[in-house]
Order: sequence, then C-alpha cells, then structure tokens
Amino acid sequence: MTRLTLSTDSPATTNADALVVAALQGPDGPVADNAAFAAPVEAAALAGATGKPGTVTIIPGAGLGISADRLVVVGIGKAPEGASTETSDGALFERVRQAAGSASRALAGHDKVVSTLAAIDLTAAAEGHLLGAYVFDTYKKPTKPPVDEIVLTVESAARATDDTLARAVITADAVAFTRDLINSAPNDLYPAEFAARASAAGADAGVTVEVLDEKALTKGGYGGILGVGSGSTRPPRLVRLSYTPSDPRATVALVGKGITFDSGGLSIKPAAKMDQMTSDMSGAAAVVATVIAAAKLNLPVAVVGTVALAENMPSGSAYRPGDVLRHYGGVDEKGKSTGTGKTVHVLNTDAEGRLVLADAIVRACEDEPDYLLETSTLTGAQLVALGRRTMGVMGTPQLRDRVAELARQVGEGGWAMPLPEHLREGLDSPLADLQNIAGDPGGGMLVAGHYLAEFVAEGVSWSHLDIAGPSFNDAKPYGYTASGGTGVPVRTLLAVLGDIAAR
Ligand code: BES
Ligand code: MN
Ligand code: ZN
Repeated sequence: MTRLTLSTDSPATTNADALVVAALQGPDGPVADNAAFAAPVEAAALAGATGKPGTVTIIPGAGLGISADRLVVVGIGKAPEGASTETSDGALFERVRQAAGSASRALAGHDKVVSTLAAIDLTAAAEGHLLGAYVFDTYKKPTKPPVDEIVLTVESAARATDDTLARAVITADAVAFTRDLINSAPNDLYPAEFAARASAAGADAGVTVEVLDEKALTKGGYGGILGVGSGSTRPPRLVRLSYTPSDPRATVALVGKGITFDSGGLSIKPAAKMDQMTSDMSGAAAVVATVIAAAKLNLPVAVVGTVALAENMPSGSAYRPGDVLRHYGGVDEKGKSTGTGKTVHVLNTDAEGRLVLADAIVRACEDEPDYLLETSTLTGAQLVALGRRTMGVMGTPQLRDRVAELARQVGEGGWAMPLPEHLREGLDSPLADLQNIAGDPGGGMLVAGHYLAEFVAEGVSWSHLDIAGPSFNDAKPYGYTASGGTGVPVRTLLAVLGDIAAR
C-alpha cells in the first residue's frame, strides 16, 4: 500500500516525481488555492486546467519554479461561501478527498509525489490519496503499480497532526480491507473463509472473535441462517467480534449481511449481472473492518459486530419457497435453542438477506446495546429509489437522521427513508408469524426495513443502512472510488461511533 508521510519542507523546492496543487474554479479560469502557485496554475490553464471537480491536468515542472518533475493541478470546484478554503466545509472537504483520489490514480507508476492538499484538510487529503491509490491485485497485477510514497506538506510539525494522519490511515486501511473482501471472487470467499479472514484480522487487532459453525448454529436454533445456507455445499457461519475499552461510554451493536454469493436460490436471479452478487457480503465486510478500526482508534465505546454468513444457492438441499423457518430466539443455560423465535413463511428465496439478518439482530440484542446499526445490500429497490451513490437509511427517527447526516458529511451519501405503518401489514402471514415478502412489490426497501424492525429489541435505538447500490461500483473508477467494492459504509459507521463517543 502507498505510504503517506508528513513534511514541513517547502512543497515548491521538494524533489519529487510530481507536485499536486489544488485549483478553484473561478469565473475566468482556475485559481490556485495557494497563491504561491498562481503562476504554475496559470501555466496549467493553458494546458486546459479549469478547476472543475474531477479534473486532473499534468504539465512538465520545468520553468515553473518548482523542483518536482511535473505539476499536477486538481480541480476542487467553486469556492465555498466567503471565497476561501480556510473555512471548514463538508462539501469542500469531499471535493478535496475526490481530487486527492483522482491525483493518486493519475500518478500510478511514480515513486514519490508531494501533495499540498493537506493545507485545506489533512484528513480529507490523506483519505482521498490512500483510497485513490487502492488496487486489488490478487488475480491480476496492475499495468502501473500504485504511487509508492505521498508526502503531505503541512505548516508545522505537531503531535495532533501526527495523530490526525494516523487516524486517517486506520480509516483508509479499514476501507481497503472491506474492498479486498468484496473483490475476492465467490469461489474463493465462502462463509468459512470469510470467518477465517475476519478471525485473523480481528486477532491481529486484539479484538475478541467468536465463530459459530453449522453445528453451533443448529444447536442455537439459527433457522434463518441455516435455511438460506442449506443449498450450498459450503455451510454458513455467524461471526462475532467484540472490542471493549475500559469504562465504555456506550455499547454499539453492528450487524452485517454476509451472503458470499446470492444466486437467488430456487427463486433464481436472471443471468445478467448475477456475477455482481459476489458483493452481497459488503455489509458484513464493512462491519468486520469497522470493529477492527474502532479498536485501533481506541474509541471509548464498546463495539460488538455480528455478521451472518451464508451462500444462497439452488440445489437438492436448498430451502424452498413454501418452507417455514424459525428464527433465532435465544438459548437456555446449556446453549440449546429455546425454540421461541419468530416463524417465517418463505415466499421467495431471493429475499434471503432479511432471513439471515433477523437471526443476527436477535443475537446482537442479547448484549443489550444502546445502539444497533445494521448494514446490508438488502434490496434492488434501494438502487431504484436512490441510485448507486446514496444509501437508504431507516430506523428510529433520531438515530436514522443522525446516520444519514453523517453519511453525507463523510462523502458516502445517505438519505433518511420512512417506515410507513401501512407497509408492515404486507408481511403478515396466514401460516406463520411473518412472510418474507409482501404481495405488493411497491416500497421494497421500506418493506425490508419493516421486516428487520420486527427483531430489534424494545428500547434500542437502531438504524438500517441499505447499501445495495453504494457498496459496489460496477462502472469506471472516479475520484477515490475504485471499480468493484467501494467500502461504503465504513466511514459512515466510524463517524457514527465517533459521534456517539463524543456525546
Ligand atoms: N442481494 C439482493 C439485493 C441487491 C440487488 C443487492 C441488486 C445489490 C444489487 C437481495 O438479496 C435481493 O435479491 N432482494 C430482492 C428482494 C425481493 C425478492 C423482495 C430484490 O431486491 O429483488
Ligand atoms: Mn437475494
Ligand atoms: Zn442478497
């Protein structure tokens, strides 16, 4: 991975393969964010630089009064209110993050890059540069390796600055780990393998890990996870990761959907784009990475992650439309199922996420958390409603609105969605406590939210983040977002944990 370092040397006189500077989009062309680079940016304007967000212009450094071989001008758009980048502004910081990511991608193949973007915001510059430099090379080496070293120039050396950089690196590592899991092919990453990778990474970070295999799941009565996993030769798992600081200010449960491949099961999906269902474990990946990052950040909140892992396949042993499953409902002193979980009539085996999640949510609530955040690639309806860059956020109104706001602040995009009372009735079943789909297909994202709500314990503030679209970029890279797994909503979850810790 690309190395980030801090330096108080003058960026203009530092030797490097490239120097990155920001340009605002002025009415008459690009305007250097740092007046010291006004002349070089003007030279870049002749080569087409505009300051528009997403633009990267590279010109030779010779004759510009800089020591670097090339000048890289990245656009950060129109100046925020007050015509200065000195005021803190979430939208501006996101443009800086995107610009840093674009610069990293454009500079692949180089050894040393000096970046001045930290002058606007160190966290945004560091995260953007690292995430933009991300490559997944397990199956194919990139034609150009990622930038080896990026030197972020800062005004003065300070302990606080080092800490800020360290936190940004932990955050970027968490996103990269999430992307790696998502980008691993489904033949390589099946429930037991996911559990093994989560255990190894958790152990490294000093996090307590517990894995329930198919035997333990049977004994405990995890009917949802077992039902969904029954069609695969590769049995399901439930993984729990706990980080407990001394004297925690709150306990937060994180729950993630970990379908390592979603074929739809016997209610099989169409062939087109079925390959993308390798990303149906994005929620679980984000949860594992977030618990580990929370531990590395020493956050003063206890965080317990619960991820439900299964492969949804059609076969002679697969669960069927028509089956009735019993969800997890607690265990006795001997760890045996009490058999008191809610029953569900399966009408569509492709609505499997809610089935594995219900078990996981009930288990997570046994820890009596103050907050429960659950994330999943739950519905195609999320994509229809909000597209690929805005997650749908549901749950108890206060937490829901906080999560959506924080998602926007960190640049992951989120919007609060309602759980209209009348949509709940669609899940009533004449045969069981619930059915897994409603007769009316309208509002599918919200109906799925209602299903999950049935399993959240009374009094727990909860939020459901539907990331079906935002978790996976099926198009070209842009800004700091690579093709494939994006790592959404890791940065939102970390922001929420930070926000809870700060209260
Ligand atoms: N994993 C899918 C949802 C999904 C769709 C994620 C597209 C990412 C991209 C989920 O398990 C699913 O199949 N949902 C069904 C539910 C329906 C049967 C009620 C859907 O959305 O079609
Ligand atoms: Mn499905
Ligand atoms: Zn699914």
